[in-house]
Amino acid sequence: MPDQTGTAKLSFAGKELELPMYSPSVGPDVIDIGKLYAQAGVFTHDPGFTSTSSCESAITFIDGEEGELLYRGYPIEQLAEKSHYLEVCFLLLYGHLPTAEEAEAFEFRVTRHTMVHEQLLKFFSGYRRDAHPMATMVGVVGALSAFYHDSLDINDPWQREVAAIRMIAKVPTITAMAYKYSIGQPFVYPKNSLDYAANFLHMCFAVPAEDYEVNPILARAMDRIFTLHADHEQNASTSTVRLAGSSGANPFACVAAGIACLWGPAHGGANQACLEMLKEIGTVDRIPEFIARAKDKDDPFRLMGFGHRVYKNFDPRAKVMKESADEVLGLLGIENNPTLQVAKELERIALEDSYFVDKKLYPNVDFYSGIILEAMGFPTSMFTPIFALSRTVGWISQWKEMLSDPNQKIGRPRQLYTGETRRDYIDVEDR
Ligand code: CMC
Repeated sequence: MPDQTGTAKLSFAGKELELPMYSPSVGPDVIDIGKLYAQAGVFTHDPGFTSTSSCESAITFIDGEEGELLYRGYPIEQLAEKSHYLEVCFLLLYGHLPTAEEAEAFEFRVTRHTMVHEQLLKFFSGYRRDAHPMATMVGVVGALSAFYHDSLDINDPWQREVAAIRMIAKVPTITAMAYKYSIGQPFVYPKNSLDYAANFLHMCFAVPAEDYEVNPILARAMDRIFTLHADHEQNASTSTVRLAGSSGANPFACVAAGIACLWGPAHGGANQACLEMLKEIGTVDRIPEFIARAKDKDDPFRLMGFGHRVYKNFDPRAKVMKESADEVLGLLGIENNPTLQVAKELERIALEDSYFVDKKLYPNVDFYSGIILEAMGFPTSMFTPIFALSRTVGWISQWKEMLSDPNQKIGRPRQLYTGETRRDYIDVEDR
């Protein structure tokens, strides 16, 4: 913990309490309520954790008002432009940008772990071909714990390290396999002469019958998508990974839990839902109809790819993604893509509408990513698995950070119970 920087006074029911306060390196101060129950016999209540810091972390920081995202202090825009995904992985895991030697050694290690145990391939055939690739991934990533027994001891820092490298290396292979399985094509083994993103595209799009050349422009765009999704503070799936890990569960099981959480449409599933929405809108003239639905309190419809719990300004990832969409579609000669036209017009109209302006709802990372992924040749069902692949490094960095925190405890929230008070069992004939 940092040094205490202040005290908050809390008075209620004739009691007066002093609670320690801490200042982060940047961001709002926090009041430590850890001893509140012991001292005053009350809980705090914050469903959705809107005002609650759940851990101390030095990995990622978001300034939601300014629309700023920092990985270990470095702005996401600079990393998206100048860095590449494996360098970002090193940065997130170890806290500093690698020297040339460190980068070479790290990339060598990751590359040497890209294959999966041959027996793991058999898991896929237990699934229906039309299973969503996220369903396959939850199962297969969790199943890694049945194969790599030498990296399951969470109390051994070396095993934690090996598990981290294995996860970063193998998740692209598993993601590509989930895709190949869903379209009935043979699995393509990793090719270690290719860089991380190019290798992923190769495993997704190569077939044994033909030569496949990875388009370097698409590989660069893929790498940028990985970078933009690599980590994002204590979001729902990361908190899930931490909570699962807090019980001492193994890292593969924890990441599988993160994948399950990410799947929901309010989180990582929004990229698939967003592209499906843009296609359903179809033409610019139908936008007002969908805007009206999004504003209607009686209609559960929301503009997918819009709004964020933390950003009350442009999601900086969306800005980079929009530029990337223009670049990729331009280079592929499909800049008149109707979905991109609908997206841009929808964004323009929504940003002028008082409903969205007043609620500070801006496009988020999922708004433009699907357009790029579709242009690359991915079906919508692969969008969230690609998000999961990218976020794996964030999950594993946060998991490692949690385990090396001396104050780490099992996560165990309390509740505001509103159920029945104690009552006696009634025999069936008396009910
Ligand atoms: N369309 C229409 N209205 C919205 C939207 C939207 N996309 N998002 C929020 N609102 C409204 C909401 O109805 C509420 O209105 P009111 O105050 O009148 O009840 C207000 O804005 C605040 O919304 P909230 O649901 O209380 O905010 P939240 O912080 O709990 O939810 C969110 C954040 C991302 C779940 C939400 O904005 C949303 O459902 N967006 C669409 C799904 C999406 O794009 N998710 C991806 C998030 S970024 C990537 C990731 O993290 O995985």
